[in-house]
Amino acid sequence: MSHHPLYKDTDLVLSIESVTKSFDGFKAINDLNFYLGEGELRTIIGPNGAGKSTFMDLITGRTRPDEGTLKYHQDDGHDLDLTKLREYEINRLGIARKFQTPSIYQHHSVYDNIVLSLGHNRSVLHALFYKESKPDREAIEEVLETIRLQDMRHHQAGLLSHGQKQWLEIGMLLAQKPRILLVDEPAAGMSDEETERTGELLLSLEGKHSIMVVEHDMEFIRQIARKVTVLHQGHVLKEGKFLEVANDAKVKEVYLGRQKHE
Ligand SMILES: Nc1ncnc2c1ncn2[C@@H]1O[C@H](COP(=O)(O)OP(=O)(O)OP(=O)(O)O)[C@@H](O)[C@H]1O
Ligand SMILES: [Mg+2]
Repeated sequence: MSHHPLYKDTDLVLSIESVTKSFDGFKAINDLNFYLGEGELRTIIGPNGAGKSTFMDLITGRTRPDEGTLKYHQDDGHDLDLTKLREYEINRLGIARKFQTPSIYQHHSVYDNIVLSLGHNRSVLHALFYKESKPDREAIEEVLETIRLQDMRHHQAGLLSHGQKQWLEIGMLLAQKPRILLVDEPAAGMSDEETERTGELLLSLEGKHSIMVVEHDMEFIRQIARKVTVLHQGHVLKEGKFLEVANDAKVKEVYLGRQKHE
């Protein structure tokens, strides 16, 4: 297990140091330092264009940094340099990402969507004729319970509400048992009730996965906040508890004062 002088008592899963990424000379990420602890639920806020999604792109290998290191601390004690790995290799290590638009199989049931995400079979047709093993069925039940869609298991996924589709997609990622889960703006477009249930879902995952959640909705952030990181111009402006961050003069100036809900 890896440690950092600032986080002596925390087992780390990610150590990101001095990372810079420019697009056409514009530094979307600028000397970023960031550490994620095992089982931690971290929220990330910041104005539009602060580099939040790019930060997730860098972790998942979708984008390469110009400078700096992204280290993944495996649970066997070995460190891996994520900048050397391809996107699918990073995903296979147990780093899963949820994008904003759900990518579910619209015509299949909720249950089959989770079967399909178990990853045993590469084709949809194969997966649907595949008889799940007992451990598989138990894992699927656990996921259905976590995302609270047990009673919807036979429903066609395409007919679910926007919020339910988002939970299903989180469930499909959970079925792969990721060590790190990256979630970009999960509450966008959700009703207040769905947003709150999403918060409860993410809180229930704390300790089981290391989770990074990017969101603009400050009520939602307040609900799930543990340590909050504020990104501004590709750099960490502030890190701390919700109230420390929300009451910070610099944070108010760059973000909260002109916060835009999307
Ligand atoms: N592939 C790319 N090519 C060029 N510029 C990019 C690319 N990806 C991101 N950028 C730029 O990098 C900056 C950071 O964008 P990013 O999407 O990471 O911000 P964000 O914090 O996620 O913003 P939002 O809150 O609006 O989602 C923006 O100025 C964006 O235009
Ligand atoms: Mg974004």
